Amino acid sequence: MIGDIVETEQCQVKDPMDLFHSGQVVKICAPMVRYSKLAFRTLVRKYSCDLCYTPMIVAADFVRSAKARDSEFTTNKALHITLWIKSSHVGTEGDRPLIVQFAAKEAQVLCDAARIVCPFADGIDLNCGCPQRWAMSEGYGACLINKPELIQDMVRHVRNQIDNPGFSVSIKIRIHEDLKRTVDLCQKAEATGVSWITVHGRSVQERHQPVHYDAIKIIKQSTSIPVVANGDIKTLKDAENVHHLTGADGTMVARGLLANPAMFAGYEETPLECIQDWVDIALEHGTPFTCFHHHLMYMMERITSKQEKKVFNALSSTSAVLDYLNDHYGV
Ligand SMILES: Cc1cc2nc3c(=O)[nH]c(=O)nc-3n(C[C@H](O)[C@H](O)[C@H](O)COP(=O)(O)O)c2cc1C
Repeated sequence: MIGDIVETEQCQVKDPMDLFHSGQVVKICAPMVRYSKLAFRTLVRKYSCDLCYTPMIVAADFVRSAKARDSEFTTNKALHITLWIKSSHVGTEGDRPLIVQFAAKEAQVLCDAARIVCPFADGIDLNCGCPQRWAMSEGYGACLINKPELIQDMVRHVRNQIDNPGFSVSIKIRIHEDLKRTVDLCQKAEATGVSWITVHGRSVQERHQPVHYDAIKIIKQSTSIPVVANGDIKTLKDAENVHHLTGADGTMVARGLLANPAMFAGYEETPLECIQDWVDIALEHGTPFTCFHHHLMYMMERITSKQEKKVFNALSSTSAVLDYLNDHYGV
């Protein structure tokens, strides 16, 4: 699956905290249900992404069910070795550094989930930002921003029970209408030992409204741990602007990377080389057709006409997609 291993040596996986202390703005691929899986992470890492998140995984299901674990979490287990791989599209550090994001509402369940992934990842993240109705009604996601003590309890438990001080525990939040409450939450999280905080600069109710970068700046100024800015970053220039506007230590991107997985490397639109890389990586990983095709639809959105999209989006098999790419782009 991952090419020919030529040589192995001791692990050189970067500690995520070292990334934040490097003085560079850390470039991060956001957690994305259905999308930020191993094959896509492999692709964005090739194009200058420093740190990747898994899609959100419900911790209780993950702990309870082997089937959930198998379907929700795949990595290439580049654990204690660095893989020097002939194949050019796989980085020398495998699928690392990697943050596994969980939806949780009970401290011990989150700990148990963290313990399972600990050997394969560099940290866990607690989702405190998902605004979807199902998540909120189950007590997951963005409703946690109104329960700072519960967040503290969960973070404290993981810190106490995971015996690896380098293992990060982070949270990803949305902001309150009353920013004082967000600042209070972030300060409480910091006091409990959270490694960093990612802020999607919108409230739970907001969908397409402009991102409140001013709020992210205030949060950054009110805390001493790294803060990651998220929301509406589509190009490397946007990422630089958001860093200047907010002082954030990292920028996290979701839709911008779906549309152009090479954006962190400075490309304004998806280069054909990146489409070729996706085809190679996805096929090597045995990516299901729907996922393979959806990613291509996102990547080709900006570079195809309406008519071309109509034809491409209606394709229904891997071979039809490969023929289309070959005929139209020589990929
Ligand atoms: C397809 C998709 C799936 C997402 N899944 C998750 C998720 O699993 N966990 C999470 O915290 N946020 C999730 N989000 C939200 C993003 O991580 C991000 O906060 C949001 O899209 C704003 O960033 P953007 O403007 O760069 O897209 C998802 C977003 C998209 C578009």
